[in-house]
Amino acid sequence: MFDFDTVIDRRGTHSLKYDFAKLRGKPADVLPLWVADMDFPSPPEVLKVLEERVKHGIFGYSDAADEGYFNALKIWYETRFGWSIELGWMVKTPGVVFAICAAIRSLTNPGDAVLIQQPVYYPFESSVKGNNRRLVVNQLVLKDGHYTMDLEEMERQIAEEKVKLFILCSPHNPVGRVWTREELEAVGDLCLKYGVYIVSDEIHQDFVYPGYTHHVFANIKPEFAEQSIICTAPTKTFNLAGLQISNIFIPNEKIRRAVVKEIRRTGYSQPNVMGLLACQAAYSYGEEWLEGLKKYLSANLSLMRDFINERLPGIKLIEPEGTYLAWLDFRGLGLDDSEINRIMIENARLWLDEGSMFGAGGEGFQRINIACPRIILQQALERIEKAFVLKAVQSW
Ligand SMILES: Cc1ncc(COP(=O)(O)O)c(C=O)c1O
Repeated sequence: MFDFDTVIDRRGTHSLKYDFAKLRGKPADVLPLWVADMDFPSPPEVLKVLEERVKHGIFGYSDAADEGYFNALKIWYETRFGWSIELGWMVKTPGVVFAICAAIRSLTNPGDAVLIQQPVYYPFESSVKGNNRRLVVNQLVLKDGHYTMDLEEMERQIAEEKVKLFILCSPHNPVGRVWTREELEAVGDLCLKYGVYIVSDEIHQDFVYPGYTHHVFANIKPEFAEQSIICTAPTKTFNLAGLQISNIFIPNEKIRRAVVKEIRRTGYSQPNVMGLLACQAAYSYGEEWLEGLKKYLSANLSLMRDFINERLPGIKLIEPEGTYLAWLDFRGLGLDDSEINRIMIENARLWLDEGSMFGAGGEGFQRINIACPRIILQQALERIEKAFVLKAVQSW
């Protein structure tokens, strides 16, 4: 019913994915499957609301003037995650990374230790370091193609390094884990034991493959809600990243006040009106579109899984449980990391995210974004095959 197959030319639209290759040192003709946005238009109802607003023509200072915005979110979280939010918890920010940085600054002091679980979304590391906090890396453990948390090591690190704040990625980008209730409970209990704040980045919460369930961290136990900040956004789910809107939920009043004070200090006040409208329309009317999209992404994942199994010996798919990103293990090819990156760009002419960007444990991996028309994904896989598998019969 929804068309995800049509290839829409995104070049010349100020697109980070399509218009910045040369500026970022890549050949102009690379096929980009890196940054986490999608090559699909947002749901029709969202486009309609935005078009109507453009027709109105005045874009003055704006905010959510009635309860419609909050109610759209409330229904979404209640029906999809069994999570009952309160209006007073909500803080709107232009992005999740913005909120993570504000949380770091408001809940810790310069020099304090902040823990992250690498390999992980690279702005976690830069947010900690950029705000002059001490980075503590608790590396995820990969065994038999499956990543888990090393809680024993984490407890040691929390105690020894006096960790003040933990940034949880749930579902996890790039390794694709949708943490189970038991895993979240265990890591949450550990944080409670040592008084560590938890910033739970749940921006990928709507992308969970069949058979898996996303659990909102604050919904697991009331004590978790009291010590955490839940970062959500419609921007991944409905492809609205350029509209700069995210919804952060902070049930604990003291924590919320501290974070809000820090946000004000940055000079940010009201949200972008287009983001606001798109967010409300997406959560109100976008469910059917999202379900269609998820089916399409599942089929893209199947295509990639089959292609890798049949045609890419030495390359392994870390089976994602959630997100539209996939973590590919190239270590079986026996190439070093810089060689993999070089071949990917120069020979395959593909722009993926290099695994080493995600920190400890990322070397030898590549992250691919499968939220694109199937024909593009097929082309990308064929380019990988040609550059890495058929290279013996080619002369580069
Ligand atoms: C885990 C995670 N958090 C945050 C973001 C970006 O959020 P924002 O654009 O709202 O800062 C991304 C985007 O890829 C992400 O993967």
